[in-house]
Amino acid sequence: MKEKLEQILKNAQSEIEKCDDVKSLDEVRVKYLGKQGELTSILRNMKEIPPEERKMVGMLANSVREQVEKALGDKNSILEEEALAESMEKEKIDITMPGIGVKRGALHPLTRFNNKFMDICVEMGFTVIQGPEIDTDYYNFEALNVPKNHPARDMQDSLYITDNILLRTQTSNMQVHAMEELKPPFKIVCPGRVYRNDDDSSHSPIFNQFEALVVDENVGLKDLMKMIDIILKRLFGENVKMRVRPSYFPFTEPSIEIDATCQMCQGKGCSLCKGTGLSEVFGAGVVNPKVLEMSGIDSKKYSGFAFGPGIDRSVMVTNKIPNIKYLFRNDMRFLKQLR
Ligand code: DAH
Repeated sequence: MKEKLEQILKNAQSEIEKCDDVKSLDEVRVKYLGKQGELTSILRNMKEIPPEERKMVGMLANSVREQVEKALGDKNSILEEEALAESMEKEKIDITMPGIGVKRGALHPLTRFNNKFMDICVEMGFTVIQGPEIDTDYYNFEALNVPKNHPARDMQDSLYITDNILLRTQTSNMQVHAMEELKPPFKIVCPGRVYRNDDDSSHSPIFNQFEALVVDENVGLKDLMKMIDIILKRLFGENVKMRVRPSYFPFTEPSIEIDATCQMCQGKGCSLCKGTGLSEVFGAGVVNPKVLEMSGIDSKKYSGFAFGPGIDRSVMVTNKIPNIKYLFRNDMRFLKQLR
């Protein structure tokens, strides 16, 4: 029995030695120490061993089991270490390699300019509203004092869907919606897309405007001019120069056109401003009392003023962009360069 146990130990040790992965090592463990294992069956059948030998055989068998267990444990640690070293080698990361950059998103230059404008107005107490891009002839024209066949309709080449429904040509339609819905006094701004049948390097059939309307008691041209002066300084800097020219819009009386320091040449004089150093920024005026009345506002008690800047033209000029379409192509290489 003693020899048999020694033989078992030797065999187990040599088999353990030969194992080169955890799986085969486990098979060896089962072979010797498992329920049906060689050593287990000897330990289980101790009763059959003559009493005088039993103690010695028992001790030896236990010692063999311990040695086999230790050999298995040692080999297992070695194999695990080897596996770890191998995977570390395979999955090695060179931390000196340059990283893969994450591209940061950004707002479109038109949105940025629009937001800047809106922030200024919101700080002045305006409420931002939005409204339909598809509207009726009434809101886009008639209620703004542009009846059918009025020559002022030629100022805007419109895209009609039916005789009565069109893509709004101006955000001024929101003046009418606001006057119908809100009780004076109020100050609203409405940013939005507008549509005209225009298409050349400085005109796109879709472009962006911004409508501002103030209705209150005793407000007029001087309030409008002061407000525009503040806005232009906030937009283009304290040194901006402003010039006011008389103009004509059916919904304002008087109507004015605002010029400011040319943002293309910073006032030095260039082809855009025809050497004057000033270029047109937007139209404005005192709301025509007829327009107030048509929308149910008492023009004896209330007056109003409005202005309507275009967004795209300003972004074009400040960035010296030769064609408005470049703004809508969504070519990141181009857009990234804009202010
Ligand atoms: N809606 C005009 C346009 O698209 C711009 C405009 C002019 C808006 C004068 C106004 C204004 O509110 O008072 O040409």
